[in-house]
Amino acid sequence: MRFVKKEVNTTPIEDTVFVIVERAQRAKQEIGEENVVDATIGSLYDEEGKLVALDSVFEPYDALPKEQKAKYAGSFTGNIGYRKQVYEWLLGNVSSTLAHSVIATPGGTGAVNITIEECLDKGETLVLPEIAWGSYRLMATMHNLNTKTYSLFDGDHFDIENFRSVCKEVSETQDKLVVIINDPCHNPTGYSLTKEEWKNVIEILNACAKKVPVVLLNDIAYIDYSYALAHSRDYMEQFNAISDHVMVVIAFSISKSLTSYGLRCGAAVILGQEQEDVRNVEIVFEKAARATWSNIANAAMDNFTFVTTENKEAFEKEKAYYIDLLEKRSSIFTKEADAVGLSYYPYKEGFFVTLRIEDNTMRDHFHEALMQEHIYTVKVNKGIRVAVCSLKTEKCKGLAKRMKAILDQVR
Ligand SMILES: Cc1ncc(COP(=O)(O)O)c(C=O)c1O
Repeated sequence: MRFVKKEVNTTPIEDTVFVIVERAQRAKQEIGEENVVDATIGSLYDEEGKLVALDSVFEPYDALPKEQKAKYAGSFTGNIGYRKQVYEWLLGNVSSTLAHSVIATPGGTGAVNITIEECLDKGETLVLPEIAWGSYRLMATMHNLNTKTYSLFDGDHFDIENFRSVCKEVSETQDKLVVIINDPCHNPTGYSLTKEEWKNVIEILNACAKKVPVVLLNDIAYIDYSYALAHSRDYMEQFNAISDHVMVVIAFSISKSLTSYGLRCGAAVILGQEQEDVRNVEIVFEKAARATWSNIANAAMDNFTFVTTENKEAFEKEKAYYIDLLEKRSSIFTKEADAVGLSYYPYKEGFFVTLRIEDNTMRDHFHEALMQEHIYTVKVNKGIRVAVCSLKTEKCKGLAKRMKAILDQVR
């Protein structure tokens, strides 16, 4: 490791998901697709087992002139029309009173990473949910940050007291608090905070902000698959109550919203009470963007603007079909799980349902035993993730019962 910088973690990424995906693929080839439950893939798949790529997104994209695809973006912060439309898409129906700016990023990943990297100094601590998308921790490691986690649930509600005590502790031990909340449609539990819970979160952050500046990083990667879609942004109105020592950064991703994972387009939406503070964050994010990815794919941004304005009706109609499908699949699984007493984290909406297995050693045994029966899932901290987003409806039927029987054997 002589050739890389000294202060970098050199342990290889353990891609646990890829290994299981491979195993599931192999099983399908060996014993036939019909005999395998593959709940590993975290993208939206249709009932024919094909990746969903919405026509309302890709027909206009394919029709774009090649020069538009070839061209650089209008600026390092993103095309003006795109930045305006991202704000409109997310906050257009929210009576936000906050100053704001939008920076185009490569997916939600870019927005989350730029915030972590530019808001915390080396050696500081990032606050995360204890069950979370794995990249948060990796990003923290890459920037030589520590992490501290808050527990997510107290029974079937958000564990507000633990959130309070973790935020308080960190704000007493360093001079900034940066906390990630992945909501709505939390990956991987499918929980969404209530309006009341959001109100409490803001109160807690305002209390911490009396001591130190606070950055709330709200990762909304799955928001456009919310079951109560028309109300999915209502909670953002609570942000109006942030103190002037709190900054909100919303990490938005068109990967999921437009089923365009490969186009690598997203945005960081910066919100604050003071225009000057928003501008200061924008300056740093713009420089980081220029230094890291330079600019975002011009055609991906332009296509988002077209799809969510002129093509909005067709897009929303097509997407609504898949939201219904997700709801159908998840409700089959959760209802059957309730019936057989298979415990899962409080699921409301989203791509995944996660079984509650708090002992990670037991989880490992269970995960392996499931694979012996050709049920392939992904391990997460204290749980087993079932990707209903890629699991055909028929495969959801009877699955909970089978899983419960296997769990009873390993217990
Ligand atoms: C919770 C969460 N946030 C953000 C992302 C970022 O996705 P992308 O960078 O493709 O937009 C993902 C992708 O899986 C995710 O699960």
